[in-house]
Amino acid sequence: MRIAVLTEADPAEPRVAAVPETVKKFVGLGGEVVVQSGAGKDAGVPDAEYEAAGAKIASSVEETLSGADLVLKVRRPNAEEIGKIGKGATVIAIMDPYGHEDELKAIADAGLDAFAMELMPRITRAQVMDVLSSQANLAGYRAVVDGAAEYGRSLPMMMTAAGTVPAARIFIMGVGVAGLQAIATARRMGAVVTATDVRPATKEQVESLGAKFVAVEDEEFKSAETSGGYAKEMSAEYQKKQAELVKGHIAKQDIVITTALIPGRPAPKLVSEEMVASMKSGSVLIDLAVERGGNVAGAKAGEIVTVGNGVKIVGHTNVPGRLAATASSLYARNLYAFVETMVDKEAKSLAVKWDDELVKATNLTRDGQVVHPNFQPKA
Ligand code: NAI
Repeated sequence: MRIAVLTEADPAEPRVAAVPETVKKFVGLGGEVVVQSGAGKDAGVPDAEYEAAGAKIASSVEETLSGADLVLKVRRPNAEEIGKIGKGATVIAIMDPYGHEDELKAIADAGLDAFAMELMPRITRAQVMDVLSSQANLAGYRAVVDGAAEYGRSLPMMMTAAGTVPAARIFIMGVGVAGLQAIATARRMGAVVTATDVRPATKEQVESLGAKFVAVEDEEFKSAETSGGYAKEMSAEYQKKQAELVKGHIAKQDIVITTALIPGRPAPKLVSEEMVASMKSGSVLIDLAVERGGNVAGAKAGEIVTVGNGVKIVGHTNVPGRLAATASSLYARNLYAFVETMVDKEAKSLAVKWDDELVKATNLTRDGQVVHPNFQPKA
């Protein structure tokens, strides 16, 4: 069982799919691990540490992929990589499959068995493989750190000889995995924290972290959670009431962090231009949903926009990548846990259990076909 770990081809991706700890475990499973030289550089892992963990270092993409049964990546392989992976190999990554049916077809045409980690079902057995959670948690933490760095004042209240500095007010919009970590981090840093969400279950979670819950709690709110635990797209009427409530609140905030997403839909627009204009000069908005269309009017992916009144709108992309070392080690553990379920430990070879619900949920391509029902090529 030969396992290849590539350097991510996208220069905007500093993460890596394996770390020395997981290399050691793969070797323990009977794997032969080949890491492309420099794969861990941006995540703080030098080649020598992979070697010490039992990996071979290869100097090129071709050499890394030569004879590979399993290819581990952070992002979906690009056309060049697809052309170099041997037919029949298994490829596991964060595949970003929505809207990329053509790319999936190219992977199928190359005869690769591809798996998308982000489609892992959120069931107890798969929690250890949940990349959405492992990465969103870090994004929530980093959003507060980035917000604090952009904000020209302190977060905690300080009573000094020169006078008292008030605590910063931080408002978190969207209380999923990222939002909960943002609340916890902002509280630890001494801010006065409020939060909102449309799912009623979040109220108790917000309060248990010591923050105040702010939301329109009407009849629609009471049924806003799907059976899968996700938010529904809210009615225009609800959104209007929500905007009214948020409007008055936002004007008093120093830092606003937005994380609101609805699966399969563009991110809900929660902060209007008018709301941004109502904020004090020097306030900061961090839009973690910017790559999915954004929650904040005027947010630009990959940019920090300063608007007329001196309010900054931060639109960093790949926020987990801003903590590349930690994000890589958690992602690598997610991957290892999944791969372990696909290995025949006696034969020390890959033996995918095609009827396992985790495999069925994540498998995109097999035997030359796009097999996942959600991503059939357009007619
Ligand atoms: P997500 O990334 O899809 O969305 C982030 C948050 O935005 C959600 O809390 C959502 O309710 C909120 N949102 C959507 N529209 C909004 C609006 N108009 N206004 C305000 N907020 C809005 O969510 P994530 O982080 O993936 O979590 C979704 C659920 O999955 C949560 O209930 C979480 O606890 C649960 N979960 C379960 C796991 C498991 O059982 N293994 C693992 C991880 C999460």
